[in-house]
Amino acid sequence: MSHDLVVSARFGIANSHTLIVAQAHGAYTQLSTLLAQPPQSLVQTVIDSGLRGKGGGGAPTGAKWQLLEGQAKPRYLVVNADESEPGTFKDRHIIEHDPHLLIEGILLSCHALEAKAAYIYMRGEYRFWHDRLQSALDEAYGAGILGAHSCDITLHRGAGAYICGEKSALLESLEGYRGQPRLKPHRPEPEWLWGRATIVNNVETIASIPYILYKGAQAYRAMGTKESAGTLLFGLSGHVNRPGVYELPFGMPLLEVIETYGGGIRDGRALKAVIPGGASTPVLTAEQAKNATLSYEGMKLAGSALGTGGMIIMDESTSMVDALDNLLAFYRHESCGQCTPCREGTHWASSIVHDIARRQPRSDALPTLKNIARTINGQTICVFGPAVADVINGFLRNFPQEFA
Ligand SMILES: Cc1cc2nc3c(=O)[nH]c(=O)nc-3n(C[C@H](O)[C@H](O)[C@H](O)COP(=O)(O)O)c2cc1C
Repeated sequence: MSHDLVVSARFGIANSHTLIVAQAHGAYTQLSTLLAQPPQSLVQTVIDSGLRGKGGGGAPTGAKWQLLEGQAKPRYLVVNADESEPGTFKDRHIIEHDPHLLIEGILLSCHALEAKAAYIYMRGEYRFWHDRLQSALDEAYGAGILGAHSCDITLHRGAGAYICGEKSALLESLEGYRGQPRLKPHRPEPEWLWGRATIVNNVETIASIPYILYKGAQAYRAMGTKESAGTLLFGLSGHVNRPGVYELPFGMPLLEVIETYGGGIRDGRALKAVIPGGASTPVLTAEQAKNATLSYEGMKLAGSALGTGGMIIMDESTSMVDALDNLLAFYRHESCGQCTPCREGTHWASSIVHDIARRQPRSDALPTLKNIARTINGQTICVFGPAVADVINGFLRNFPQEFA
């Protein structure tokens, strides 16, 4: 399928991460022209493009940016580079191969938001990507692209907690507190960093901004579907012949992507299951995957969610009990502990599934698991808990024989 590359156009060019190579291939060429335009016109283009956040939730970016209208200054932009969702490994490709695209996206976004400072919050373990991005920032400061007349960008390392990818826990952590989610407001409002109105966006979301502002909203809208405009960096991992990250327009059939880009299932085996959008999206059976398309609406229709587009492919040799056991060990470890149903529920669910995997289940294992999922759902501050409940329910609903 032919389509423009929004965030990966410079991937594969030798030394694409350096300023000189990025500039030779188009980086920053229209920056000064765009920075001379009124901020509201940039926001309008982003609204018109239909861009949706690529951190997992798919919230319309333009509408979110409008939440800053009328808010006092200073305002902040925070870029979420925590990328800790199992199965998701796209943002680090942008940082590795084209950090200047992200920097340019931040400069343009800060202009649109009338923000003078941006913070990039990066998962602590990503030392290589941290150093790569910091070098690019240093180059941009050295060349005067960043500095006196633009916004300032600060790169901050987290300490490796999955929950710090949740936007309000991220902001708590950035402020120096324990990374735990904040209570959610009843009506839409911006996030708040040091009491100032703030927008939090994913790396890929912000890296999409230069394309949209350079080429126009219609060029972006021309790709993908009506409800899911543009492209996404889809990740393929697990039992495929060619795991990796592929930028594709929304709306492609899931199985076609596995065949064409993933090179099919390893060793000629049959597909058993797909977790379509990072570990926290409900698992699909091979049957459900058959007619599924890779868009927000397509994945909903199939009974799951698009999430981050990080697909975990499982072949017929996979034990679904072991797979859930593995996932729950992660959630048990990563629950921040603030809400009792999540802290206790992930612990108990993980123990119960682990016992099933060891063939020593308690007699009421399955009803208890379902009860735990019900108890977590809707009883927590953030969506970590409900996501775990969905994960448990998805496995039990779709592979009941294996658990029985
Ligand atoms: C437990 C949890 C972990 C998350 N981790 C990330 C992450 O690593 N990166 C990310 O961009 N968004 C993550 N999110 C989503 C963020 O809260 C937020 O919605 C996102 O950064 C907004 O950016 P976007 O609108 O550009 O997608 C996570 C959410 C939850 C509940």
